[in-house]
Formats: sequence, C-alpha cells, structure tokens
Amino acid sequence: MPEASRVIPYGVLFLFFLLSTFICTNHACKEADHNSLLSSFDISSSCLNWSSSDCCHWEGIACDADGRVTHVSLPSKWLQGSVSSSLGSLTHLLHLNLSHNLLSGPLEAGLFLSSSHLEILDLSYNHLSGDLPLFLSSSYIQIVDLSNNQFDATIPSSFLQHAWNLSSLNVSKNHFTGQIPSFICLRSSSIRVLDFSNNNFNGSIPLGLGNCSKLEIFRAGFNTLSGTLPSDLYKAQALHEISLPSNQLFGHISDNIVNLTRLTILEIYFNHLSGALPLHIGKLSKLKLMLLHLNNLEGPLPPSLMNCSNLVELNLGFNRLDGNISELSFSKLDQLIKLDLVSNHFSGAIPKSLYSCKYLKAVRLSGNDLEGQIQPEIVSLKYLSFLSLGRNRLTNVTGAIHILMRLESLSTYPSSRLVGTDSPMSPALYIY
Ligand SMILES: *[C@@H]1O[C@H](CO)[C@@H](O)[C@H](O)[C@H]1NC(C)=O
Ligand SMILES: *[C@@H]1O[C@H](CO)[C@@H](O)[C@H](O)[C@H]1NC(C)=O
Ligand SMILES: *[C@@H]1O[C@H](CO)[C@@H](O)[C@H](O)[C@H]1NC(C)=O
Ligand SMILES: *[C@@H]1O[C@H](CO)[C@@H](O)[C@H](O)[C@H]1NC(C)=O
Ligand SMILES: *[C@@H]1O[C@H](CO)[C@@H](O)[C@H](O)[C@H]1NC(C)=O
Ligand SMILES: *[C@@H]1O[C@H](CO)[C@@H](O)[C@H](O)[C@H]1NC(C)=O
Ligand SMILES: *[C@@H]1O[C@H](CO)[C@@H](O)[C@H](O)[C@H]1NC(C)=O
Ligand SMILES: *[C@@H]1O[C@H](CO)[C@@H](O)[C@H](O)[C@H]1NC(C)=O
Ligand SMILES: *[C@@H]1O[C@H](CO)[C@@H](O)[C@H](O)[C@H]1NC(C)=O
Ligand SMILES: *[C@@H]1O[C@H](CO)[C@@H](O)[C@H](O)[C@H]1NC(C)=O
Repeated sequence: MPEASRVIPYGVLFLFFLLSTFICTNHACKEADHNSLLSSFDISSSCLNWSSSDCCHWEGIACDADGRVTHVSLPSKWLQGSVSSSLGSLTHLLHLNLSHNLLSGPLEAGLFLSSSHLEILDLSYNHLSGDLPLFLSSSYIQIVDLSNNQFDATIPSSFLQHAWNLSSLNVSKNHFTGQIPSFICLRSSSIRVLDFSNNNFNGSIPLGLGNCSKLEIFRAGFNTLSGTLPSDLYKAQALHEISLPSNQLFGHISDNIVNLTRLTILEIYFNHLSGALPLHIGKLSKLKLMLLHLNNLEGPLPPSLMNCSNLVELNLGFNRLDGNISELSFSKLDQLIKLDLVSNHFSGAIPKSLYSCKYLKAVRLSGNDLEGQIQPEIVSLKYLSFLSLGRNRLTNVTGAIHILMRLESLSTYPSSRLVGTDSPMSPALYIY
C-alpha cells in the first residue's frame, strides 16, 4: 500500500530522530563538574532539587555534548553563603546567573581564572561585598552584571583587560569607590551599556568614551564625580542616553552635543553645570527627556529647543535661565507631558502656544518674573492636574480662578493649599 509504505519510513525516521536527540542531550555529567557543583552550593538550605545522579539534568544546569557544564542558571533560589571558588573549576562554563539570591562575602581572587569561556556573568541582587577579582580571564565575556550588591572597593583597571567582546557592564547600586575605569572602550569596542550609577565613584569622567562607537547607554548618576563633561563624550555617536544626575560636574554643555543625533534621554540634573544651553539643541530631534534642573545654567532658551518635538518631559527648574518666554512657540512640543521651569528668571507672558501642548499633565512656572494673565485657552489642557504659577507677577487672579474651574482634571483645593511650597506632581493648583 502506498500510504503505509510512506508512513513507515517517516516513523522510523522519527524514532531515529528521538533516539539521536536523546543520545546528544543525555551525556552524563563529567564527575569533576558534578563535584564542583555540589561543593559550590549549599543544597540543603536552598530549594534546589539536585537528587538525580546526572548533574546535566539538574535544575538550572545545562551541559554540552561532552557532558561538561556550560550553564548554571539559578536566579531566585535562596542561595546563601559565598560564591564558591569551586565554580571556577567549571572550565566550560558559558553562562553563570546567580542573580536575586542571598550570596554574600567577597569574590575570591582566582574565582574566574579558569572560566576562560564565560560569556555571561550575572551576580546582581545579592549581598556581595569587598574587592573584585583582578581579572575576568574570559575574552568572550559579553555581559557583566554586578548591580545591587555591596561591593565597596575600586574596580581594578585590569578587571576587564581581556574583555574584547564586552557589550554590557552594570555595577550600579553598590559602594564602589575611586575612578570610573578609563579607556574601557579601547579594549571593548562593542560596549553598548555602561551603568555606574548609585555608587561612590569620584574623580572625573574618564576620557576614552569617544572610542565607544556602539555605546548606547551611559549612566553614572548618584556618585561624586567632578570635573567637566569630557570633550570626547560628544563623539560617541550611538548614544541614546546620557544619565549623570546628582554629581558635582561643572562647566558647560558643549554645542558638539548636537552630533549625538540619537539622544533620547539627557539627564544631568543636580550638578553645577553653567553657561547657556547649546544654541542648536533643536537638532536633537529624538530627545524625549531633558532633565537639567538644579544647575547654574544661564541665558535664554535657544529658540531651536522648540523644535525638539518629541520632548515628553522638560525640566529646567532651579537654574538662572532668563529671557522673554512669550516669544517662544511651544506648538511643536505636542508630546510634552511635564514642563518645569520653576525658579529661574523668565519674563514675559505665558505664551498661548503652550496651551496647544494637549497632553500636558504638569506645568510649574512658579518663581519667575512672568506677567500678564492666564488665557481662557488653557482649558484645552484637559489632562492638566498640576499647575503652579506662584511667585510671579501674574494679574487677574479672580479671572484665572474662573477659567481654571473649568479644568476638570485640576482638583481644586482649599485656599490654604494655594500658597506654600509646591511639591510637584501630586494633583494641585498653586497660582499665588
Ligand atoms: C526531585 O526531582 C526528581 C527528578 O529529577 C523527582 O523524581 C523528585 O520527586 C523531585 N523531588 C522533589 C522533592 O521535588
Ligand atoms: C538572569 O536571570 C534573571 C531571572 O530569570 C533574568 O531576569 C536575567 O535577565 C538573567 N541575566 C542575564 C544576564 O541573562
Ligand atoms: C567576539 O564576538 C565575535 C562575534 O560575536 C566572535 O566572532 C569573536 O570570536 C569574539 N571574540 C572574542 C575574543 O571573544
Ligand atoms: C543596571 O541594573 C539595575 C538593577 O540592578 C537596573 O535597574 C538598571 O536598569 C540596569 N542598567 C541598565 C542600563 O540596564
Ligand atoms: C576618591 O576617593 C578616595 C577615597 O575613597 C580618595 O582617596 C581619593 O583621593 C578621591 N579622589 C578624588 C579625585 O577625589
Ligand atoms: C580611540 O583610540 C585611539 C587609540 O588610542 C586613539 O588614537 C583615538 O584618538 C581614539 N578615538 C577617539 C574618538 O577617542
Ligand atoms: C560633529 O559632526 C560634524 C560633521 O559630521 C564634524 O565635522 C564635527 O567634527 C563633529 N564634532 C564632534 C565633536 O565630533
Ligand atoms: C526648526 O526646524 C525647522 C524645520 O526643520 C527649521 O526650518 C527651523 O530653522 C528650525 N528652527 C530653529 C530655531 O532651529
Ligand atoms: C516680551 O515680549 C513681548 C512680545 O515681543 C512683548 O510685548 C513684551 O513687552 C516682552 N516682555 C518683556 C518683559 O520683555
Ligand atoms: C480677568 O479675566 C477674566 C477671564 O479671562 C476676563 O473676562 C476679565 O476681563 C479679566 N479682567 C481684567 C481686568 O483683565
């Protein structure tokens, strides 16, 4: 029968396929790796079920065709104790993910000396402390995530010496000290992500970022970095995000920043930046977040800023900016949700064009030198839930209240709430 004779060969093939996948994946774990795993983890205190004899079948473990352990993936397993140096004997290890556990203590000096194939190292969300090993010996390493631990030493300049293929380094939320490692991109030109934020790094931002031709995200906020923004930062053309808030950076933002045309996030608030905003900043047409508040910026807003039509949040509060804002047209900023210009020296009337930014939820213009009246057109801001205009020279408060009562999303408060310190973003109205 033609039907059956077709079925049988397929069946045989299928059986053969099953058998061969079984053979290929069922290599018994090499004894050395078995023993390394067992001495690396305190199984009794974790929730690991490692009872079968073949370690290649244990939860979180994967092996290659020779029965050598290549993956140890044990996130969120209540693992305790130190990261055992026995892990370093897993010479074929590619991925090590021990994130979200209770591991503590320092990493031993020779820990990764034999892990020469390691590609991914994720030890984030543990309680690790102390020094880092001098070297990560693997030249294949791509991702290093040590974030959310208690490391409190410097990062040895040799640590990533062989990391030619590093694409992401995240050491955020630790207590690292000393300098941010310099020339990181001379060794690893494939770096896309650098996150040094929330540590105790000091000194200046090192030169060398200009060689980070693939760098997309650079974060080093909440440290005590000082000095100016390095000139070659503006050469890292792939940058999407520059995030350096809460440091002691000074100097101005160079006009060369307009070369970073992919920039969507620029946050350098709470520093000592001075000088004017770059004249042609409008060339950064992808900017969504521009947070430069709490600096010493001065001068008028460059008209080109009003060409950043993708801006969602613009915060320039607590600077020394000035100029007549009635001459600016906000009409292209139609994605804007938050506008904060508090405590500057802006003058003139609130431009009617601002009322065309129809998604605006929060506007804070208090503490300037604004004059004139609130126009009835403001009622088109139907999502507006925070408006603060106090400490200006606006007139016709009665008229303003009549207009603003028509804005439903703007909760009205007893008059005592109309004065005083306005803390942004909770629904409120402050016009005095
Ligand atoms: C542990 O895993 C084995 C199979 O690998 C299974 O037979 C056994 O029931 C499991 N034990 C527990 C407590 O889950
Ligand atoms: C490690 O595991 C966690 C939890 O599954 C996961 O979210 C994380 O992306 C993994 N890390 C890496 C670098 O793949
Ligand atoms: C780096 O990665 C590329 C492509 O992923 C690979 O061909 C190359 O061998 C790697 N080099 C090293 C030193 O790991
Ligand atoms: C770095 O890790 C932290 C968590 O530990 C995370 O919040 C942050 O997004 C990571 N950085 C990047 C750039 O992915
Ligand atoms: C950075 O901090 C270390 C101590 O944590 C100190 O020895 C060093 O002088 C500081 N460097 C700078 C440039 O402030
Ligand atoms: C990149 O590094 C090379 C080698 O040190 C150097 O000559 C070059 O100027 C650097 N390029 C940038 C943009 O920093
Ligand atoms: C910015 O780009 C222009 C044109 O590509 C180039 O001439 C200029 O040198 C660049 N500036 C910086 C700082 O890279
Ligand atoms: C804003 O963009 C328009 C259109 O691209 C351009 O003609 C105009 O010169 C820009 N304005 C400023 C001030 O850069
Ligand atoms: C601001 O500009 C407008 C329009 O050019 C003008 O009428 C007004 O007097 C100016 N206000 C101040 C304080 O310069
Ligand atoms: C005050 O504002 C209201 C509402 O916009 C307006 O009708 C009235 O003419 C204004 N009064 C003065 C003196 O400008």
